[in-house]
Amino acid sequence: MPTASRPRLLAADPAAIFDAAEILRAGGLVAIPTETVYGLAARADRDESVAAIYAAKGRPSFNPLIVHVADRAGAEAIAQLDARAVALAEAFWPGPLTLVLPLREGAPIAAAVTAGLPTVALRCPAHPVMRAVIAATGIPLAAPSANRSGAVSPTEAAHVVASLGDRIDAVIDGGPCAAGLESTIVALRADGTWQILRPGPIPTDDLAQVLGSAPAVVTDQAIEAPGQLASHYAPGKPVRLGALEAEADEFHIGFGIIAGHASLSPGGDLNEAASRLYALLHQGAADSHPRIAIAPVPEAGIGAAINDRLRRAAA
Ligand code: TXA
Ligand code: MG
Repeated sequence: MPTASRPRLLAADPAAIFDAAEILRAGGLVAIPTETVYGLAARADRDESVAAIYAAKGRPSFNPLIVHVADRAGAEAIAQLDARAVALAEAFWPGPLTLVLPLREGAPIAAAVTAGLPTVALRCPAHPVMRAVIAATGIPLAAPSANRSGAVSPTEAAHVVASLGDRIDAVIDGGPCAAGLESTIVALRADGTWQILRPGPIPTDDLAQVLGSAPAVVTDQAIEAPGQLASHYAPGKPVRLGALEAEADEFHIGFGIIAGHASLSPGGDLNEAASRLYALLHQGAADSHPRIAIAPVPEAGIGAAINDRLRRAAA
């Protein structure tokens, strides 16, 4: 085959989904839009394809990956779902919720996916393109965010190309991601407690309502979900939070009545702010100002997840 330019840019149509499934079945890497961020997918049942994800991202091999499945039956084949897991899956799947569950013995998942943990992170995405690719491939897909390790997550195909370039085989361009923040990660513990390992689009209160209890505090997060370490989501230049005004050398990201050079949401809508956050961090990173300042964002609802990512971006 002649050397085509990499990555191949695919439209989000049936022919592209067929091509993507072929690349994936052959062990390749395809970036795919989801409702949260673009994921870098590979078949989850082969050590070599999973190793290729870690290599392309420059990701430490002790940081486990999320497995994407078509439905609850797909999840049951990989993990043990108790009554709480079933209740959460019924309430929030397909959607931006990842469940950390006990790995089923003999599950068709490469050891590198879970980085040796006895648990596996499972998500059933809602985005029609990701759903179509999972169905066409017929294999669970491991997919971390499609960026170099530690960098800002991609919410547009162009972000993926800028970050990973020829390290991957193809990108499906499905336009900007609707939620814009990575999925909420919930761990269900054997002792009946549960924890939020990563805040996200599904707010804690909604989860607590389904589970009938408040989450337990996470103390061992650094060890268990290393993807949540402080230095992640870094735009590559200093970030100052809570900025009502900008200094002369700062690119100012506004919110609500604070206009800035560009705004997360002029009307103060937190869902819009979440969907635009990473695109504006990418814009701030590319801008000529050497520093980034960001207006205060309220903590309510998805604001908690926005502020979680902002603290990491500023760390
Ligand atoms: O929205 C999302 O979740 C996106 C899209 C592509 O689905 N994916 C994503 O993957 O954000 P990634 O790899 O960037 O983040 C996965 C997080 C990491 O913090 C990792 O440490 C944690 O999930 N994780 C994976 N498996 C785990 C496990 N068994 N126990 C605890 N944490 C786990
Ligand atoms: Mg990530």
